[in-house]
Amino acid sequence: MGELRESLLKQQLQHELDTARKLEADGKSKQATTHYKVAASIYRRLAYISPRNEAESLFHSADQFEGVSGAGKAKSEQPIDKMIVYEKPTTKWEDIGGLKEAKREVRESIILPMIVGKPAFVEVPRTILLYGPPGTGKTLLAKAASNTLKANFFEAKTSTLLSKYYGESEKIIGALFDKARKNQPSLIFMDEFDSIMITREAGVHEATRRVISQLLVEIDGFSTKKDEKVIIMAATNRPWDLDDAMISRFQRKIYVPLPDVDSRRKIFEIHVKGSSLSGITADGLAEISEGYSGRDIASICREAIMFMIREQNPNLEDMTATQVEKYAIKYRPLTKDDFTYALSKIKKTVSQKLIKRYDDWKENLSV
Ligand SMILES: Nc1ncnc2c1ncn2[C@@H]1O[C@H](COP(=O)(O)OP(=O)(O)O)[C@@H](O)[C@H]1O
Ligand SMILES: [Mg+2]
Repeated sequence: MGELRESLLKQQLQHELDTARKLEADGKSKQATTHYKVAASIYRRLAYISPRNEAESLFHSADQFEGVSGAGKAKSEQPIDKMIVYEKPTTKWEDIGGLKEAKREVRESIILPMIVGKPAFVEVPRTILLYGPPGTGKTLLAKAASNTLKANFFEAKTSTLLSKYYGESEKIIGALFDKARKNQPSLIFMDEFDSIMITREAGVHEATRRVISQLLVEIDGFSTKKDEKVIIMAATNRPWDLDDAMISRFQRKIYVPLPDVDSRRKIFEIHVKGSSLSGITADGLAEISEGYSGRDIASICREAIMFMIREQNPNLEDMTATQVEKYAIKYRPLTKDDFTYALSKIKKTVSQKLIKRYDDWKENLSV
Protein backbone atom coordinates (compact mmCIF):
# COMPACT_ATOMS: atom_id res chain seq x y z
CA MET A 1 0.00 0.00 0.00
CA GLY A 2 2.70 2.42 1.09
CA GLU A 3 4.84 1.49 -1.88
CA LEU A 4 2.00 1.99 -4.31
CA ARG A 5 1.36 5.43 -2.89
CA GLU A 6 5.00 6.27 -3.15
CA SER A 7 5.31 5.22 -6.76
CA LEU A 8 2.13 7.10 -7.69
CA LEU A 9 3.47 10.20 -6.02
CA LYS A 10 6.76 9.84 -7.85
CA GLN A 11 4.98 9.53 -11.18
CA GLN A 12 2.95 12.63 -10.41
CA LEU A 13 6.09 14.44 -9.38
CA GLN A 14 7.86 13.60 -12.63
CA HIS A 15 4.87 14.79 -14.57
CA GLU A 16 4.72 18.11 -12.72
CA LEU A 17 8.43 18.74 -13.13
CA ASP A 18 8.34 17.89 -16.83
CA THR A 19 5.40 20.20 -17.38
CA ALA A 20 7.03 23.00 -15.40
CA ARG A 21 10.30 22.75 -17.29
CA LYS A 22 8.54 22.73 -20.63
CA LEU A 23 6.53 25.81 -19.73
CA GLU A 24 9.64 27.50 -18.49
CA ALA A 25 11.48 26.72 -21.71
CA ASP A 26 8.57 28.33 -23.57
CA GLY A 27 8.98 31.45 -21.50
CA LYS A 28 5.76 30.85 -19.56
CA SER A 29 7.37 31.23 -16.19
CA LYS A 30 4.20 32.15 -14.33
CA GLN A 31 2.47 28.94 -15.31
CA ALA A 32 5.67 27.04 -14.65
CA THR A 33 5.69 28.38 -11.10
CA THR A 34 2.29 26.83 -10.43
CA HIS A 35 3.60 23.43 -11.45
CA TYR A 36 6.78 23.86 -9.44
CA LYS A 37 4.61 24.58 -6.40
CA VAL A 38 2.61 21.41 -6.96
CA ALA A 39 5.90 19.54 -7.31
CA ALA A 40 7.03 21.05 -4.01
CA SER A 41 3.91 19.77 -2.26
CA ILE A 42 4.46 16.29 -3.68
CA TYR A 43 8.06 16.33 -2.48
CA ARG A 44 6.71 17.17 0.96
CA ARG A 45 4.21 14.31 0.89
CA LEU A 46 6.97 11.95 -0.12
CA ALA A 47 9.16 13.26 2.68
CA TYR A 48 6.51 12.49 5.25
CA ILE A 49 6.22 8.88 4.20
CA SER A 50 9.97 8.36 3.85
CA PRO A 51 12.51 7.23 6.41
CA ARG A 52 14.22 10.02 8.27
CA ASN A 53 17.52 9.89 6.43
CA GLU A 54 15.81 10.39 3.07
CA ALA A 55 13.21 12.83 4.31
CA GLU A 56 15.61 15.69 4.89
CA SER A 57 16.76 15.93 1.31
CA LEU A 58 13.18 15.60 0.04
CA PHE A 59 12.17 18.47 2.28
CA HIS A 60 15.04 20.47 0.91
CA SER A 61 13.89 19.86 -2.64
CA ALA A 62 10.38 20.87 -1.64
CA ASP A 63 11.64 24.14 -0.18
CA GLN A 64 13.65 24.84 -3.29
CA PHE A 65 10.80 24.27 -5.69
CA GLU A 66 8.45 26.23 -3.46
CA GLY A 67 10.78 29.18 -3.96
CA VAL A 68 11.19 28.81 -7.73
CA SER A 69 9.56 31.64 -9.58
CA GLY A 70 10.26 33.72 -12.66
CA ALA A 71 11.68 36.60 -10.62
CA GLY A 72 13.74 34.72 -8.10
CA LYS A 73 15.18 32.25 -10.54
CA ALA A 74 18.83 31.46 -10.75
CA LYS A 75 20.67 33.62 -13.22
CA SER A 76 23.64 32.05 -14.83
CA GLU A 77 25.95 32.82 -17.69
CA GLN A 78 28.61 30.14 -17.76
CA PRO A 79 28.51 26.45 -17.03
CA ILE A 80 30.40 26.82 -13.80
CA ASP A 81 28.06 29.57 -12.69
CA LYS A 82 25.14 27.21 -13.10
CA MET A 83 26.28 25.45 -10.01
CA ILE A 84 26.20 28.60 -7.98
CA VAL A 85 22.72 29.87 -7.33
CA TYR A 86 22.71 33.62 -7.60
CA GLU A 87 19.64 35.55 -6.56
CA LYS A 88 18.28 38.42 -4.54
CA PRO A 89 16.08 36.81 -1.92
CA THR A 90 12.79 38.44 -0.99
CA THR A 91 12.45 36.87 2.47
CA LYS A 92 11.70 39.45 5.15
CA TRP A 93 12.27 39.23 8.88
CA GLU A 94 8.49 39.25 9.39
CA ASP A 95 8.26 36.06 7.34
CA ILE A 96 10.18 34.31 10.09
CA GLY A 97 8.09 33.54 13.15
CA GLY A 98 9.69 33.88 16.59
CA LEU A 99 13.43 33.13 16.90
CA LYS A 100 13.97 36.46 18.62
CA GLU A 101 17.46 35.66 19.89
CA ALA A 102 18.70 34.09 16.66
CA LYS A 103 17.30 36.96 14.61
CA ARG A 104 18.98 39.54 16.80
CA GLU A 105 22.30 37.72 16.62
CA VAL A 106 22.16 37.36 12.85
CA ARG A 107 21.13 40.96 12.36
CA GLU A 108 23.88 42.46 14.42
CA SER A 109 26.46 40.15 12.88
CA ILE A 110 25.64 41.18 9.35
CA ILE A 111 25.20 44.89 9.96
CA LEU A 112 28.55 45.47 11.66
CA PRO A 113 30.79 44.48 8.73
CA MET A 114 28.87 46.85 6.48
CA ILE A 115 29.61 49.92 8.59
CA VAL A 116 32.61 51.58 7.05
CA GLY A 117 34.06 53.88 9.70
CA LYS A 118 34.34 51.72 12.77
CA PRO A 119 36.95 51.79 15.52
CA ALA A 120 39.53 49.03 15.57
CA PHE A 121 38.20 47.47 18.75
CA VAL A 122 34.88 46.57 17.15
CA GLU A 123 35.12 42.94 16.20
CA VAL A 124 33.70 42.20 12.79
CA PRO A 125 32.24 38.76 12.45
CA ARG A 126 32.15 37.82 8.83
CA THR A 127 31.66 34.10 9.12
CA ILE A 128 28.50 32.79 10.69
CA LEU A 129 27.44 29.23 11.38
CA LEU A 130 23.74 28.58 11.91
CA TYR A 131 23.04 25.27 13.56
CA GLY A 132 20.01 23.54 14.98
CA PRO A 133 17.26 21.02 14.24
CA PRO A 134 16.01 20.67 10.66
CA GLY A 135 13.18 22.92 9.52
CA THR A 136 13.62 25.66 12.10
CA GLY A 137 14.38 28.58 9.80
CA LYS A 138 18.12 28.56 9.13
CA THR A 139 17.72 29.00 5.40
CA LEU A 140 15.08 31.66 5.99
CA LEU A 141 17.46 33.57 8.27
CA ALA A 142 20.22 33.51 5.67
CA LYS A 143 17.85 34.81 3.01
CA ALA A 144 16.42 37.54 5.21
CA ALA A 145 19.94 38.61 6.10
CA SER A 146 20.84 38.84 2.44
CA ASN A 147 17.66 40.78 1.71
CA THR A 148 18.38 43.27 4.48
CA LEU A 149 21.80 43.98 3.06
CA LYS A 150 20.43 44.15 -0.47
CA ALA A 151 23.25 41.73 -0.98
CA ASN A 152 23.83 39.34 -3.82
CA PHE A 153 23.08 35.91 -2.51
CA PHE A 154 25.30 33.07 -3.62
CA GLU A 155 24.16 29.67 -2.60
CA ALA A 156 26.39 26.74 -3.22
CA LYS A 157 25.08 23.39 -2.16
CA THR A 158 27.84 21.54 -0.44
CA SER A 159 27.28 18.58 -2.71
CA THR A 160 28.07 20.86 -5.64
CA LEU A 161 31.31 21.98 -4.05
CA LEU A 162 32.42 18.39 -3.87
CA SER A 163 32.43 17.55 -7.52
CA LYS A 164 33.45 14.07 -8.55
CA TYR A 165 35.54 15.42 -11.35
CA TYR A 166 39.14 16.08 -10.75
CA GLY A 167 39.94 19.74 -10.39
CA GLU A 168 36.32 20.80 -10.88
CA SER A 169 35.69 21.47 -7.18
CA GLU A 170 38.60 23.87 -6.91
CA LYS A 171 37.29 25.79 -9.89
CA ILE A 172 33.81 25.99 -8.44
CA ILE A 173 35.01 27.20 -5.07
CA GLY A 174 37.34 29.69 -6.67
CA ALA A 175 34.54 30.99 -8.89
CA LEU A 176 32.15 31.21 -5.96
CA PHE A 177 34.44 33.38 -3.86
CA ASP A 178 35.56 35.46 -6.84
CA LYS A 179 32.00 36.26 -7.82
CA ALA A 180 31.10 37.16 -4.28
CA ARG A 181 34.11 39.47 -4.06
CA LYS A 182 33.29 41.16 -7.37
CA ASN A 183 29.61 41.60 -6.54
CA GLN A 184 29.76 43.21 -3.12
CA PRO A 185 27.84 43.46 -0.93
CA SER A 186 27.33 39.75 -1.08
CA LEU A 187 26.48 36.78 1.04
CA ILE A 188 27.78 33.31 0.41
CA PHE A 189 25.49 30.66 1.80
CA MET A 190 26.51 27.06 2.15
CA ASP A 191 23.50 24.99 3.13
CA GLU A 192 23.72 21.45 4.51
CA PHE A 193 27.29 22.24 5.35
CA ASP A 194 27.88 19.06 7.35
CA SER A 195 27.79 16.96 4.18
CA ILE A 196 31.27 18.21 3.36
CA MET A 197 32.58 16.34 6.36
CA ILE A 198 30.55 13.19 5.92
CA THR A 199 32.16 12.68 2.57
CA ARG A 200 35.51 13.09 4.19
CA GLU A 201 34.78 10.45 6.79
CA ALA A 202 33.57 8.03 4.21
CA GLY A 203 36.94 7.66 2.58
CA VAL A 204 39.43 10.32 3.63
CA HIS A 205 39.61 11.10 0.00
CA GLU A 206 42.62 13.08 -1.08
CA ALA A 207 40.61 15.30 -3.43
CA THR A 208 38.02 16.00 -0.76
CA ARG A 209 40.67 16.99 1.72
CA ARG A 210 42.10 19.42 -0.80
CA VAL A 211 38.69 20.96 -1.31
CA ILE A 212 38.22 21.43 2.39
CA SER A 213 41.57 23.08 2.83
CA GLN A 214 40.89 25.36 -0.10
CA LEU A 215 37.62 26.33 1.52
CA LEU A 216 39.43 27.08 4.76
CA VAL A 217 41.95 29.23 2.94
CA GLU A 218 39.23 31.18 1.15
CA ILE A 219 37.38 31.75 4.40
CA ASP A 220 40.57 32.87 6.12
CA GLY A 221 41.18 35.27 3.27
CA PHE A 222 38.02 37.12 4.14
CA SER A 223 38.51 37.15 7.86
CA THR A 224 41.65 39.22 7.52
CA LYS A 225 40.45 41.78 4.98
CA LYS A 226 38.63 44.31 7.07
CA ASP A 227 36.79 46.20 4.39
CA GLU A 228 35.32 43.49 2.23
CA LYS A 229 31.55 43.48 2.29
CA VAL A 230 31.22 39.77 2.01
CA ILE A 231 29.50 37.58 4.58
CA ILE A 232 29.94 33.86 4.70
CA MET A 233 27.14 31.84 6.22
CA ALA A 234 26.80 28.13 6.61
CA ALA A 235 23.91 26.11 7.99
CA THR A 236 23.91 22.64 9.43
CA ASN A 237 21.62 20.21 11.21
CA ARG A 238 24.61 18.15 12.26
CA PRO A 239 27.24 20.45 13.77
CA TRP A 240 28.94 17.48 15.46
CA ASP A 241 30.07 16.24 12.04
CA LEU A 242 32.21 19.34 11.54
CA ASP A 243 35.76 19.12 12.74
CA ASP A 244 37.46 21.66 14.99
CA ALA A 245 39.47 23.30 12.21
CA MET A 246 36.27 24.10 10.39
CA ILE A 247 34.28 25.15 13.44
CA SER A 248 36.98 27.53 14.61
CA ARG A 249 36.69 29.45 11.32
CA PHE A 250 33.22 30.61 12.20
CA GLN A 251 33.36 33.72 14.32
CA ARG A 252 29.69 33.54 15.27
CA LYS A 253 27.88 30.31 15.95
CA ILE A 254 24.18 30.84 16.28
CA TYR A 255 21.75 28.26 17.58
CA VAL A 256 18.41 28.12 15.80
CA PRO A 257 16.13 26.18 18.16
CA LEU A 258 12.72 24.55 17.89
CA PRO A 259 10.06 27.24 18.29
CA ASP A 260 8.75 27.95 21.80
CA VAL A 261 5.04 28.54 22.37
CA ASP A 262 5.22 32.22 21.46
CA SER A 263 7.18 31.51 18.27
CA ARG A 264 4.75 28.75 17.31
CA ARG A 265 1.86 31.19 17.55
CA LYS A 266 3.62 33.53 15.15
CA ILE A 267 4.54 30.73 12.76
CA PHE A 268 0.89 29.60 12.68
CA GLU A 269 -0.18 33.16 11.94
CA ILE A 270 2.28 33.34 9.07
CA HIS A 271 1.25 30.04 7.52
CA VAL A 272 -2.53 30.25 7.74
CA LYS A 273 -1.86 33.23 5.51
CA GLY A 274 -4.81 35.32 6.44
CA SER A 275 -7.45 32.59 6.21
CA SER A 276 -9.77 33.12 9.19
CA LEU A 277 -10.04 30.79 12.14
CA SER A 278 -13.26 29.72 13.81
CA GLY A 279 -13.50 28.15 17.25
CA ILE A 280 -9.73 28.07 17.55
CA THR A 281 -7.01 30.72 17.83
CA ALA A 282 -3.35 30.85 16.89
CA ASP A 283 -2.69 30.83 20.64
CA GLY A 284 -4.63 27.59 21.01
CA LEU A 285 -2.77 26.04 18.10
CA ALA A 286 0.54 27.02 19.62
CA GLU A 287 -0.46 25.26 22.85
CA ILE A 288 -1.16 21.94 21.16
CA SER A 289 1.86 21.85 18.89
CA GLU A 290 4.76 21.54 21.30
CA GLY A 291 7.78 19.88 19.71
CA TYR A 292 6.80 20.69 16.13
CA SER A 293 9.30 22.58 13.99
CA GLY A 294 8.51 25.61 11.84
CA ARG A 295 8.48 23.40 8.80
CA ASP A 296 6.10 20.94 10.52
CA ILE A 297 3.79 23.83 11.36
CA ALA A 298 3.87 25.03 7.75
CA SER A 299 2.86 21.49 6.72
CA ILE A 300 0.10 21.37 9.33
CA CYS A 301 -1.39 24.58 7.98
CA ARG A 302 -1.13 23.39 4.40
CA GLU A 303 -2.80 20.10 5.34
CA ALA A 304 -5.60 21.84 7.28
CA ILE A 305 -6.28 24.20 4.40
CA MET A 306 -6.34 21.31 1.91
CA PHE A 307 -8.72 19.38 4.18
CA MET A 308 -11.12 22.31 4.24
CA ILE A 309 -10.84 22.86 0.49
CA ARG A 310 -11.50 19.19 -0.23
CA GLU A 311 -14.56 19.19 2.01
CA GLN A 312 -15.99 22.35 0.48
CA ASN A 313 -15.23 21.34 -3.09
CA PRO A 314 -15.90 17.60 -3.22
CA ASN A 315 -15.87 17.39 -7.02
CA LEU A 316 -12.53 19.03 -7.47
CA GLU A 317 -10.69 15.93 -8.62
CA ASP A 318 -13.22 15.06 -11.33
CA MET A 319 -13.20 18.44 -13.03
CA THR A 320 -12.10 18.93 -16.57
CA ALA A 321 -9.72 21.68 -17.58
CA THR A 322 -12.48 23.90 -18.94
CA GLN A 323 -14.61 23.48 -15.81
CA VAL A 324 -11.66 24.39 -13.67
CA GLU A 325 -11.16 27.67 -15.47
CA LYS A 326 -14.63 28.94 -14.59
CA TYR A 327 -14.86 27.41 -11.16
CA ALA A 328 -15.11 29.66 -8.11
CA ILE A 329 -13.48 27.84 -5.25
CA LYS A 330 -15.56 27.51 -2.07
CA TYR A 331 -14.04 27.96 1.33
CA ARG A 332 -14.83 28.63 4.97
CA PRO A 333 -12.89 29.57 8.11
CA LEU A 334 -10.53 26.91 9.42
CA THR A 335 -11.86 24.99 12.39
CA LYS A 336 -10.44 22.92 15.18
CA ASP A 337 -11.40 19.76 13.28
CA ASP A 338 -9.30 20.77 10.29
CA PHE A 339 -6.30 21.13 12.55
CA THR A 340 -7.01 17.97 14.52
CA TYR A 341 -6.95 16.13 11.23
CA ALA A 342 -3.77 17.88 10.11
CA LEU A 343 -2.04 17.23 13.42
CA SER A 344 -2.90 13.55 13.19
CA LYS A 345 -1.30 13.39 9.76
CA ILE A 346 1.84 15.42 10.30
CA LYS A 347 4.34 13.80 12.61
CA LYS A 348 7.00 15.67 14.52
CA THR A 349 10.25 15.51 12.61
CA VAL A 350 12.51 16.37 15.53
CA SER A 351 12.93 14.12 18.56
CA GLN A 352 13.77 15.08 22.14
CA LYS A 353 16.87 12.96 21.88
CA LEU A 354 18.09 15.06 19.00
CA ILE A 355 17.47 18.29 20.94
CA LYS A 356 19.59 16.94 23.76
CA ARG A 357 22.38 16.37 21.28
CA TYR A 358 22.42 20.05 20.28
CA ASP A 359 22.40 21.06 23.93
CA ASP A 360 25.37 18.82 24.64
CA TRP A 361 27.25 20.06 21.61
CA LYS A 362 26.62 23.68 22.55
CA GLU A 363 27.83 22.97 26.06
CA ASN A 364 31.17 21.69 24.78
CA LEU A 365 31.75 24.50 22.38
CA SER A 366 34.96 26.22 23.40
CA VAL A 367 34.37 29.57 21.72
N1 LIG B 1 10.53 30.35 12.12
C1 LIG B 1 9.81 30.07 11.02
N2 LIG B 1 8.83 30.92 10.62
C2 LIG B 1 8.09 30.65 9.53
N3 LIG B 1 8.24 29.57 8.76
C3 LIG B 1 9.19 28.67 9.10
C4 LIG B 1 10.02 28.89 10.24
N4 LIG B 1 10.89 27.85 10.33
C5 LIG B 1 10.61 27.04 9.29
N5 LIG B 1 9.59 27.52 8.54
C6 LIG B 1 9.00 26.87 7.33
O1 LIG B 1 9.75 25.72 7.05
C7 LIG B 1 10.44 25.82 5.79
C8 LIG B 1 11.85 25.32 5.94
O2 LIG B 1 12.61 26.20 6.74
P1 LIG B 1 14.19 26.34 6.60
O3 LIG B 1 14.55 27.75 6.87
O4 LIG B 1 14.63 25.78 5.30
O5 LIG B 1 14.69 25.40 7.77
P2 LIG B 1 16.17 24.89 8.02
O6 LIG B 1 17.05 25.60 7.05
O7 LIG B 1 16.43 25.26 9.43
O8 LIG B 1 16.14 23.42 7.82
C9 LIG B 1 10.36 27.29 5.43
O9 LIG B 1 10.35 27.46 4.05
C10 LIG B 1 9.08 27.74 6.10
O10 LIG B 1 7.95 27.44 5.31
MG1 LIG C 1 16.89 24.73 4.98
